[in-house]
Amino acid sequence: MSARFCGTGSCVPDYVMDNDGVAELVETSDSWIRERTGIARRHIAVKETTVSMANEAAKRALDNAGVLPEELDLILMSTISSDVIIPCGACEVQKAIGADKAVCFDLNGACTGFVLAYNTALAYIESGIYQTVLIVGSESLSRLTNWKDRGTCILFGDGAGAAVIKKDERASYIPAAHSDGTRGEALLCHSKREENGLPLQKNDENGGKHLNSEDYLMQMDGQGVFRFAIKQVPEVIQEVLKKNGVKPEEIDWYILHQANRRILEAVAKRMGEPVEKFPMNMEEYGNTSSASIPILLDEMNRDGRLKRGQKIVLAGFGAGLTWGATIIEW
Ligand code: COA
Repeated sequence: MSARFCGTGSCVPDYVMDNDGVAELVETSDSWIRERTGIARRHIAVKETTVSMANEAAKRALDNAGVLPEELDLILMSTISSDVIIPCGACEVQKAIGADKAVCFDLNGACTGFVLAYNTALAYIESGIYQTVLIVGSESLSRLTNWKDRGTCILFGDGAGAAVIKKDERASYIPAAHSDGTRGEALLCHSKREENGLPLQKNDENGGKHLNSEDYLMQMDGQGVFRFAIKQVPEVIQEVLKKNGVKPEEIDWYILHQANRRILEAVAKRMGEPVEKFPMNMEEYGNTSSASIPILLDEMNRDGRLKRGQKIVLAGFGAGLTWGATIIEW
């Protein structure tokens, strides 16, 4: 037994901050950011929140799947930037869409979160416990970003993506995932009750409350994370392919967490696979953590690039450290 993606949805904030906008906050430039990361713009939640974007992405995914909210058995939300600590984002989505039968909880897997949420949904479906699951990745990383640190604030953006997954009779693929808590300091975010320097807070219709209810500051060993990603991601993809007896050339798309163009290009090169099989949209959205894979899936689903029967690798990597890959058949 397996699980099939039967609908996707996404939602990104209206406000767009390009690299020149970031250069007004810290000493950097459009050309430096583009060259090192492939990012040109990011969408920043001003009137939106992590929950409001999740709600919208969820509604669009249900509509795309032709599934009613009351058919959902489980809602899993991956987020590291929920509006409030409790109730969880998944319960907020349940309330907004009226999925009264669903069990709801959140999962903190950072940039690997959507892949881990999919693996969790798959395990529930394979065990026969649930049949129809909504998985959501939603983030407002602009709330966590230190807008005075040019080493990190250039990277992140806000947005949400969602997918409806249903029980399917085909055989499933076994996922591969790993964690190494001993390397957690490479990318961490701790609370710090002081201004984080983002002037948008002052214009926020909600009086800045959801953006700055607590201040959390992101810290990252950029080169360490880069080295981690270009080593572990190709390895975990090779692992998942080997585990399932699938050859790289059988894969139509490698849909990776959209952290950085140079990371994805390095992964493609190490795997000896054409970079065209690694679609990218970080130019428009930056790194949206657990939302990046479902936003890209939704774009590709809606523009017709994804076709039934295609084999796709989903791979995430990030804080924890965590990394994982899974194969899906569209
Ligand atoms: N604009 C201009 N200069 C910058 C800058 C910026 N935004 N950020 C750093 N610099 C400077 C540094 O101060 C340094 O200057 P120096 O040589 O005078 O000391 C120089 O650029 C090189 O800094 P370094 O940190 O070595 O840059 P880098 O080539 O490693 O690029 C990242 C920085 C963050 C783009 C890169 O390390 C990276 O992509 N890492 C992975 C991050 C990631 O994807 N994290 C999320 C994973 S889920």
